[in-house]
Amino acid sequence: IKIAAIVPAAGVGSRMQVGYPKQYLKVAGKTILEHTLAKLGELSELCKIAVVVSDNDEYFCELALSEQRIMRVSGGKERAESVLNGLHALSEVQPDWVLVHDAARPLVLADDIRTLINECVRNDEGGILAAKVKDTIKRGNTHSLETVPREQLWQALTPQLFPYKNLKEALEQALSKGVLITDEASAMEWARQPVKLVSGRSDNIKITTPEDYDLACFLLAKQQE
Ligand code: C5P
Repeated sequence: IKIAAIVPAAGVGSRMQVGYPKQYLKVAGKTILEHTLAKLGELSELCKIAVVVSDNDEYFCELALSEQRIMRVSGGKERAESVLNGLHALSEVQPDWVLVHDAARPLVLADDIRTLINECVRNDEGGILAAKVKDTIKRGNTHSLETVPREQLWQALTPQLFPYKNLKEALEQALSKGVLITDEASAMEWARQPVKLVSGRSDNIKITTPEDYDLACFLLAKQQE
């Protein structure tokens, strides 16, 4: 079986407020994107790694990337469009499966990715890393209207692994119909395709705000001890 990866990295990262895309912030001497790509690089299972960056991105070419499997792809306006561009670019490779992983999640462990790959390939169905919700969850705007039972609530993480053809079709159709797509699984759910929830580490955080960045610095330093 052939598995290719897509790393969406074309966001502007406005919530980080640093004036350049957040994946180029440095942690322990390397950019967030380099940490993420190093983690994916540990997986010999991946035949290609399509990194989706904006056409205006002048930082990517400055990175010291020795990984031969990396290819650069142009980003889109929304994350889902960036992923779709990655899928189109991978058509020359014709992968059976595609693993999508946020550039902004450098803390993922190769072992968690292997667990996801094994679970999905063994059962022949797509899936995502996810963490059971630990907090008490409220629904409301200015005041809480209710407490939502959390037994069935999961936090969606990445990577997300799906059969290449099914994901491409689901994303194309969902985008053309204007469905709200915030991850690959939302397109697959909409297309009534299976999405297996595979337990992953909850410290596989997405770096979005300055607080996340501080936490990631601490966690990455600890991983590298
Ligand atoms: O904005 P957010 O943190 O949810 O983005 C998740 C990932 O998707 C980031 O790695 C970001 O670079 C990427 N992205 C993208 N294309 C966009 C928007 C976000 O590749 N248009």
